[in-house]
Amino acid sequence: MIDPFGRTVSYLRVSVTDRCDFRCVYCMAEDMTFLPKREILTLEELDRLCTAFIDKGVAKLRLTGGEPLVRKGILDLIRSLSRHLKSGALEELTLTTNGSQLARYAGELAAAGVRRINVSLDTLDPDRFRAITRWGDFGKVMDGIRAAREAGIAVKLNMVALKGVNEDEIVPMLEWAHAEGHDLTLIETMPMGDIDGDRTDQYLPLSLVRARLAERFTLTDIPYKTSGPARYMQVAETGGRIGFITPMTHNFCESCNRVRVTCTGMLYMCLGQDDSADLRAPLRASEGNELIAQAIDEAIGRKPKGHDFIIDRRTRRPAVGRHMSVTGG
Ligand code: GTP
Ligand code: 5AD
Ligand code: SF4
Repeated sequence: MIDPFGRTVSYLRVSVTDRCDFRCVYCMAEDMTFLPKREILTLEELDRLCTAFIDKGVAKLRLTGGEPLVRKGILDLIRSLSRHLKSGALEELTLTTNGSQLARYAGELAAAGVRRINVSLDTLDPDRFRAITRWGDFGKVMDGIRAAREAGIAVKLNMVALKGVNEDEIVPMLEWAHAEGHDLTLIETMPMGDIDGDRTDQYLPLSLVRARLAERFTLTDIPYKTSGPARYMQVAETGGRIGFITPMTHNFCESCNRVRVTCTGMLYMCLGQDDSADLRAPLRASEGNELIAQAIDEAIGRKPKGHDFIIDRRTRRPAVGRHMSVTGG
């Protein structure tokens, strides 16, 4: 799949549910309305959709949410999709999770061929963790990370850098993550959907964070790539890697290789744009995959050049109205 700007699309992110057992302050409002169950694709439909993309050249598949591990039957879907790993069509089957259910699932994920997962972790302080997630249990997430490691799954930690919330923890997080053998990726908060509060108050540019880190650590650019948007640096003092995801200060859209599907079967060609294509109708219109393949081709043909992450000056609301949990980040 090649888009109008010559970029090859080989990475699919599928949000298997818009629901989550946390309500992170930068992600959701406390009171969220989730989709009614009847709107959601079945596991079989999700499998068909993923398979259609794999047939069209997707080599990396990431399940996201909401929280993917709260979707009932998620392991059946993962086990079924792992046939594409065995056939060699898929290079990586992975997920991004908040870690709350990981202790329970780690062994079976590893058995299904999951080698690497990304876990969101914005703080190492249990009270602050509860404040950021609104009620999350830090201990459970730690148990989950440990269980994943023991199952042989590499864990990358995702930390959304938030001004005045966790910026004082970036150094301790980096030292802890690297001591535990985890890569750490810092993320700039992106304006998507309404939250309780003003998004501009939380925004912390990573260019500033990197400059601060460089005063303390020896950072070297490295060519390490995961096919995600992070740019990685090696930290000499800790021997670990730190990634920076900087949609706001340094746009990485020119090398974009991804598209996203929601749990209702809408294909979004860009995280930071509203244009989408309905894949549920062609999925349900026939048993074969021709109509879906056609709809995918049409949509890829209008993948935009880049995102539109802006906050309206007057209303102070994000231009992109849907939450990240709808499109899975
Ligand atoms: P790796 O395979 O480890 O590179 O993972 P990843 O960075 O692709 O996935 P992850 O789910 O860990 O996402 C980390 C952050 O990157 C999330 O906040 C995503 O929203 C963000 N992200 C991923 N892809 C894009 C993108 O195309 N545009 C923007 N703006 N952000 C993205
Ligand atoms: N901006 C940046 N990152 C976000 N995430 C969720 N909402 C946002 C946002 N508005 C992060 C989560 C998770 C990843 C998928 O996206 O913390 O690590
Ligand atoms: Fe849930 Fe992840 Fe959003 Fe937090 S960032 S509310 S864990 S989807």
